[in-house]
Amino acid sequence: MKSLETLFVLALIMALAISATSDSETNSMRGTSRFLGRVAMTSCEKYPKICHMKGSGGPDCCNNKCVNFSTDRFNCGRCGKKCSFGKMCCDGKCVNPRTNEKHCGKCGNKCDARGSCVYGMCSYA
Ligand SMILES: *[C@@H]1O[C@H](CO)[C@@H](O)[C@H](O)[C@H]1NC(C)=O
Repeated sequence: MKSLETLFVLALIMALAISATSDSETNSMRGTSRFLGRVAMTSCEKYPKICHMKGSGGPDCCNNKCVNFSTDRFNCGRCGKKCSFGKMCCDGKCVNPRTNEKHCGKCGNKCDARGSCVYGMCSYA
């Protein structure tokens, strides 16, 4: 009788120990994926390919960050090329969307031959 009780207690302890281990295992797994996420965010200098992964900030690596040179106004066309105030980055070029006939108001908004860009709108007057 006594040994059966001991066995039961032992089994209980083992069950607790197992659940405790699996708990800490899930925690460390979560920690690992968080760690991997951080690596993906910050080491494109080492691994430029990560910028081509879905959900990255863009295909280009600049100051260890994934950016899109074609639209990033702080890295327009190349790393570190900042567009001045009021300009935006379209196709890797800083443009003034209030007057640019190819990017009037927004990137890719072209005014046709008769129109001109006035305050960011194509005017045909
Ligand atoms: C970069 O931005 C342009 C304009 O929004 C977009 O067409 C292009 O798909 C982007 N590149 C990538 C790889 O996200």
